[in-house]
Amino acid sequence: MNIKKTLLTLSLLSATQFATAGEVEVLHWWTSGGEAKSVSALKDMLESQGHTWKDFAVAGGSGTSAMTVLKTRAVSGNPPAAAQIKGHDIQEWGGLGFLASLDDVATANKWDSLVPPMVSDIMKFDGEYVAVPVNVHRVNWLWANKEVFQKAGVKVPATMDEFFMVGDKLKEAGIIPLAHGGQAWQDATVFEAVALSVLGSDGYNKAFVDLDMDTLSGDQMVETFRLFQKMHNYIDKNSPGRDWNVATSMVINGEAAMQIMGDWAKGEFTAAGKMPGKDYVCVPAPGTSGQFTHNVDSFAFFQLSDPEKQKAQQALAATILTPEFQEVFNLNKGSIPVRLDADMSKFDSCAVDSMKDFKATAKSGDLVPSMAHGMSTTSYAQGAIYDVVTNFFNDPNADPKEAAGKLAKAVKAAM
Ligand code: GAL
Repeated sequence: MNIKKTLLTLSLLSATQFATAGEVEVLHWWTSGGEAKSVSALKDMLESQGHTWKDFAVAGGSGTSAMTVLKTRAVSGNPPAAAQIKGHDIQEWGGLGFLASLDDVATANKWDSLVPPMVSDIMKFDGEYVAVPVNVHRVNWLWANKEVFQKAGVKVPATMDEFFMVGDKLKEAGIIPLAHGGQAWQDATVFEAVALSVLGSDGYNKAFVDLDMDTLSGDQMVETFRLFQKMHNYIDKNSPGRDWNVATSMVINGEAAMQIMGDWAKGEFTAAGKMPGKDYVCVPAPGTSGQFTHNVDSFAFFQLSDPEKQKAQQALAATILTPEFQEVFNLNKGSIPVRLDADMSKFDSCAVDSMKDFKATAKSGDLVPSMAHGMSTTSYAQGAIYDVVTNFFNDPNADPKEAAGKLAKAVKAAM
């Protein structure tokens, strides 16, 4: 064969491939067992379309470190193509003028009719889609090791009172009642569950969405701090600094009885081959049955000038809302699909309950945004709440009434 002709054919071939394929650098913090499995599904689906995935993983639960790294990269004029940005942060990045519009992809794929308005509102800045939702996590869950409970002869607690009673029995039996990682965001995750049970859904919204001073400093908030402080008696002394997935593994292997954590914890049970109902139990966090604290993960896309990279960005955005991706990702992640028409037949009982409660609470007014996971308020107010909550939790002599006063003051200063 004519060598010149072969080379010409090859270069034409790669030119056509090149025209449709680009690279997307993706910043995320999904590095635990279940999380890594989930994100690799996205990578595979993007690569099967000829694009290249450049992984930019920054470890650290809830993305605190990832967000710091992202700010540095963006400020230096070199943002990644896509980043895991969610909740109020989307508005903050949109306001700074960094994000690209996804309206073309959204219109072509009818996003408005696929996801609930509560979700699409979070994804839009100034009326245009700048982010695409991945899932819906429920945060107010309690995960319990079934065998541990059976051996100790106690029931999984449904209320705060039961939690303390059961906790005492578990302690007597030599088991750590509550697996916890002492990091600000994990403290805030447990705190908001207690707040939801004490304040109810309306009071919770007043405190963490409206930032109402009277609610933040009021009697029910004092009671929230009192119960939260009491919970410290049920965690082990090695909790400071512990990662959330290490805490989950303590429940998986029976070292601890329970964990209060969003359903990304279920991703760890699944990755360890454990089955709900058989090995572990999922129930609403004590005192919060019929309530749903939501945390919607999403990817936002940065403005880039390279047309190939833009194409790859659009392919990634479109892939995320396909039924195929929604299923495989959420089966691994522990969350539920964000599409209203999702087929739930392959999902376990925890996910089926979650979907049922998600839909029911959207109607009853008991669907509330997670403060701890950036859904209810700005990163500034959230940071102020984190500080007060974590300082309180780490000081055995802290006074609940004083803490509620401090909470209101700190939030006011951050508004
Ligand atoms: C949440 C995030 C989840 C999960 C978790 C632990 O904020 O929404 O997807 O990754 O942090 O890192």
